[in-house]
Amino acid sequence: MLRDGRAAAAAGTGTLRLPPRIHVGYGVRSQIPPLLAEHGSRVFAVVDPFLAGSPHFVELVAAVRAQGADVEVHTDVLPELPVGSLTASGAAARAFAPDVVLAYGGGSSLDAAKLIALLVSHGGALADYYGENNVPGPVLPIVAVPTTAGTGSEVTPVAVISDPDQEMKIGISSPHLVPVAAVVDPELTLGAPPAVTAYAGIDALVHALESFTAAELPIGWGGRLPVFTGQNLFADQLALEAVRRIAPSLARAVADGSDREARAEVAYGSLLAGMSFGPTGTHLSHALQYPIGAITKTPHGLGTGLMIPYVLQACVPVIPERLARIGEALGGVEADPWVAAQDAVDRVAALCRAIGIPLSLAEIGVEHDQLERIADLALRARRLVDISPLGSDRQTLLTILEAAHAGDRTLIAATGRSGR
Ligand SMILES: NC(=O)c1ccc[n+]([C@@H]2O[C@H](COP(=O)([O-])OP(=O)(O)OC[C@H]3O[C@@H](n4cnc5c(N)ncnc54)[C@H](O)[C@@H]3O)[C@@H](O)[C@H]2O)c1
Ligand SMILES: [Zn+2]
Repeated sequence: MLRDGRAAAAAGTGTLRLPPRIHVGYGVRSQIPPLLAEHGSRVFAVVDPFLAGSPHFVELVAAVRAQGADVEVHTDVLPELPVGSLTASGAAARAFAPDVVLAYGGGSSLDAAKLIALLVSHGGALADYYGENNVPGPVLPIVAVPTTAGTGSEVTPVAVISDPDQEMKIGISSPHLVPVAAVVDPELTLGAPPAVTAYAGIDALVHALESFTAAELPIGWGGRLPVFTGQNLFADQLALEAVRRIAPSLARAVADGSDREARAEVAYGSLLAGMSFGPTGTHLSHALQYPIGAITKTPHGLGTGLMIPYVLQACVPVIPERLARIGEALGGVEADPWVAAQDAVDRVAALCRAIGIPLSLAEIGVEHDQLERIADLALRARRLVDISPLGSDRQTLLTILEAAHAGDRTLIAATGRSGR
């Protein structure tokens, strides 16, 4: 009955889809100009208006121009990436006729750059590509440079936008959206304020946790693969290492943004988490965040970070062995898998508290009578719900939401077989 990770490791399968070039560590940003030059001399740089004026970005553009490239800096990156703004950005990029796209910033800028590259290469409307595997072929090469740690978007096949015709954010997922290069220099994250650090950092941890707890999916290896393939031999190792790197350092990076060691650990961990969830997918914290974020106008990482303790709590009776392995990566020493599983969830919840993630949905303004609607909308995000080890049972989602609304995980433990 147990979906034991060790059993899966004996019989499982693995998939990786990654940029051909990945650099990580202090100083690696010096590789950006030569990397861009490998793909041509017309560079369309996508960056948000704030970071466009930052010394690191200004220096980078000067260095790229100094090697003879023609650079257009495009700063129309709006919060939540409304689809209309991206359509206009796509037209501006087409007019410039770039050889390569430089994606610089947080997840919003990286996702915007992916979608702009898509529009330049294939035209049409973004709605034509909503969902999975609807991008017909390669897009312009993207060199991705994150300044948060992080969404992992620099290595993943997905970009998320908002469309006024939909009630929540919507994803475009395709292997063709994986950038050609990811350059992760923790120096660029040093200026991120505490809240940005906390929300991006906990989201990275959620990526690792949801990747490691992804369901085993029946994959038809003879046909076209889904973008997200569920539990995965390679991703398992990347996810656990991401947990080991992020968990001990995130609170330090939030408390003291100039802590270079903590910044480097979280940046490396968020990259590993992206490498892990790119092929596996994420699940319920993400499916639930889409409607919660739309209703409350709260950042992505605040929502996924708020939901993760409740989602994992519901997983305890279903995949205790997997959670026990997460507990080990978090520094736990419990021998009994059921106790260790609960300990893992408690540790994740404690980290969320330590970095200021709200405890309950009530705190961020969700009304109790909105929970059913949230569950129904979350169930529409099939690519996410299908990866859940809990299945797609509406009542399970409602139980998780009830507990999250009250800020009380025991409401889940009381109804599950917690083994305690
Ligand atoms: N494609 C994926 O795989 C993926 C995964 C997770 C999240 N996302 C998306 O990423 C977005 C969230 O990205 P994010 O959390 O990185 O934030 P963000 O890009 O929305 O940026 C948030 C704010 O932080 C500022 N900022 C970023 N880096 C900074 C720095 N180094 N110094 C100072 N300020 C800085 C930005 O200017 C902005 O004001 C959401 O739209 C979410 O849907 C995408
Ligand atoms: Zn996320």
